[in-house]
Amino acid sequence: MIRDKYAREIETILARYPDRQSAILPLLYLVQKEHGYCTEEGIREVADLLDLDPTTVKSIVGFYTLLYERPVGKYVVQICNDLPCALRGADDLVEHACRRLGIRPGETTSDGLFTLETVKCIAACHRAPVAQINLEYHENLTPEAFDALIERLRTEGMPSADGRIPGVVGLEPELSEEEGRGATGQ
Ligand code: FES
Repeated sequence: MIRDKYAREIETILARYPDRQSAILPLLYLVQKEHGYCTEEGIREVADLLDLDPTTVKSIVGFYTLLYERPVGKYVVQICNDLPCALRGADDLVEHACRRLGIRPGETTSDGLFTLETVKCIAACHRAPVAQINLEYHENLTPEAFDALIERLRTEGMPSADGRIPGVVGLEPELSEEEGRGATGQ
C-alpha cells in the first residue's frame, strides 16, 4: 500500500494543494511508481485518501495516456495517429511498428520490453509523425528512425528516465535541503 511505504511523500504532496482532490495525479503516479501501473487496489487507496469515489479516480486513469490501467512493458511506445500525424504517414508507421515489434496496439512484447499504443495528439504536430516513449518525444519519425530507436532501447536503454515509470520524473516530492544532502550522500 502506498499509504505505508510513501507516507512522507503523500503528506508532502497533499500539503501542496489547498484542495486535497487536486493531488490526484501525483498520488496516482506514486501508485504507478510502486506497481508499474494503476492497480485496482491503488485506485481505491487514492480514492480513499482524497474522499473520492473509486470510479472517479478510475476515470482519471483512463483519461491520461501516461497513466496505465494494466501492466505495461518497460518502454511504452505511443504513436500519435491523430489527423496531422496521419497526414504525414502515422498509420504506415504504426503498421511498421507492429511488424517490427511483432505485436498490435495495446499489446506488450513477450520479453516485457515494449508496449505499443496509438494515442491522440501529443502536441508536436509540427514535427509529425511523432511517438512518445515514456517521457521522450521522437519526431519526424521514419520507419528507419523507428528501427534505430528500438535497437538503441534494446541495447542501451533509456538513461534519461527510469523507463518503467513514465510521468514520475519531475513530480517526485521536493526534498528539503537536509533530505537532499542525505539522498545524494553529500
Ligand atoms: S496530431 Fe500528432 S502530435 Fe498532434
